[in-house]
Amino acid sequence: MVGLRPVLESDYPLIQQWVNHPEVWRYMDYELPSSLEDVRDDIERSRIEGEPFTILVGDRPIGRIGLNQFRRRDRICSMYMFIGEPAFWGQGYARDAVMTMLAFAFDRLDLEQVELWTLADNNRALSMYVKCGFVEEARLRRRSFKEGGWVDHVVMSVNREEFAKAREAWDDATRIVTHDSPAS
Ligand SMILES: CC(C)(COP(=O)(O)OP(=O)(O)OC[C@H]1O[C@@H](n2cnc3c(N)ncnc32)[C@H](O)[C@@H]1OP(=O)(O)O)[C@@H](O)C(=O)NCCC(=O)NCCS
Repeated sequence: MVGLRPVLESDYPLIQQWVNHPEVWRYMDYELPSSLEDVRDDIERSRIEGEPFTILVGDRPIGRIGLNQFRRRDRICSMYMFIGEPAFWGQGYARDAVMTMLAFAFDRLDLEQVELWTLADNNRALSMYVKCGFVEEARLRRRSFKEGGWVDHVVMSVNREEFAKAREAWDDATRIVTHDSPAS
């Protein structure tokens, strides 16, 4: 399981490494290279828009997640996230982080819907978001120019009911007992 805590100034050098990693950048929407000053500006902007969080495995920071673009009247906001170290991909950490962030959005902030966009060729992200209850809403054609070619964007959203269903499956998955687990 992962933990989320507010981004600290001491995270900035690590965040700079993450955002400059070519495999992370490939699926994101910013310019390279990113200086420490760029990271600071980005986090300060994120703080104005909504609390930015660092994703932790134990004490170790592995990525960023947050909510922004709050539209209070309609009880909707947007979400962004990445796991900054490819060595940590494929172990369910992103799903855990997204489910934790969504629980905060629906339970604590009493929102009705959370939306996001991702590159249409980001299969890893798409399948992870579907597991978290997100549904594809639209495809925006040729929205990012990446490595010499155009890539579509997929817009996705999850509402309260969809999140509740995904949460049951997530709870079940986190309750799976392995041979090594102590009997409870
Ligand atoms: C996308 C990202 C957040 C996924 O993180 P992660 O920790 O690997 O995600 P998880 O392990 O929780 O889930 C990944 C799922 O995709 C599956 N997967 C792995 N590689 C895949 C691939 N090439 N194609 C399709 N699915 C894949 C995994 O098997 C897993 O599903 P499972 O739970 O059924 O096993 C991470 O790779 C990342 O930060 N990438 C760079 C930046 C980025 O894409 N950010 C998101 C922008 S919207």
